[in-house]
Amino acid sequence: MRELSLHILDVLQNSLEAGASAVALSLEESTTLDQMVIEVADNGKGMAPEVARRASDPFYTSRTTRRVGLGLPLLAAACERSAGQLKIASTVGVGTTVTATLQLSNIDRAPLGDMAETVLSVVLHQPPVHLHYRHQVDGRTFSIDSAAFRRELGGVPVSHPSVLRWLREYLAEGEASLYVEGDGDAESTQHGGVAASEGRGAARH
Ligand SMILES: Nc1ncnc2c1ncn2[C@@H]1O[C@H](COP(=O)(O)OP(=O)(O)O)[C@@H](O)[C@H]1O
Ligand SMILES: [Mg+2]
Repeated sequence: MRELSLHILDVLQNSLEAGASAVALSLEESTTLDQMVIEVADNGKGMAPEVARRASDPFYTSRTTRRVGLGLPLLAAACERSAGQLKIASTVGVGTTVTATLQLSNIDRAPLGDMAETVLSVVLHQPPVHLHYRHQVDGRTFSIDSAAFRRELGGVPVSHPSVLRWLREYLAEGEASLYVEGDGDAESTQHGGVAASEGRGAARH
């Protein structure tokens, strides 16, 4: 089973190919609702209604390098296998929102996989794109804003080895913290960007 983080990377890649300068990625997992909702909203060039309608058809692609598009149809199939669905809302010149809904407890739901690496690859994208990422698991939230993060770096490139090492660890810890239950504070929230100079693990509120 292909990990959802890889499907999400594909959807984010579509946003970048569509020339988006800003992308909002939101993940919501609720055990109460037994649901996982993944939403990618971009301000890219958008799709005409006909293209949006066919976008989850495996034989449609606007690219010329290969004749079938795979990103959206594969995600649609992953949603449908786990009692969910994929929705695409798009307006030419405004942007696109892709919403994937999956049943959390479904035996055929793919595992989420490595969200830290997926987020990192967008944060490292050149030219820079403004990524707002928010991941909620029941009462817990982890979020990061790439523009705020870049501002706090004050000119030091995100790709600088020590920044990269710090960021990779920050993202991995933030993600892991969402699945630690109890821990005294069920409503704990972590927000980035945070100054890299705060050092590792110092970003908790
Ligand atoms: N965020 C988006 N903005 C604009 N167009 C998009 C977006 N996502 C997908 N599309 C359109 O839908 C097509 C199919 O996407 P996808 O299934 O990922 O296949 P591929 O990217 O390989 O073409 C793309 O070629 C593109 O024309
Ligand atoms: Mg694609």
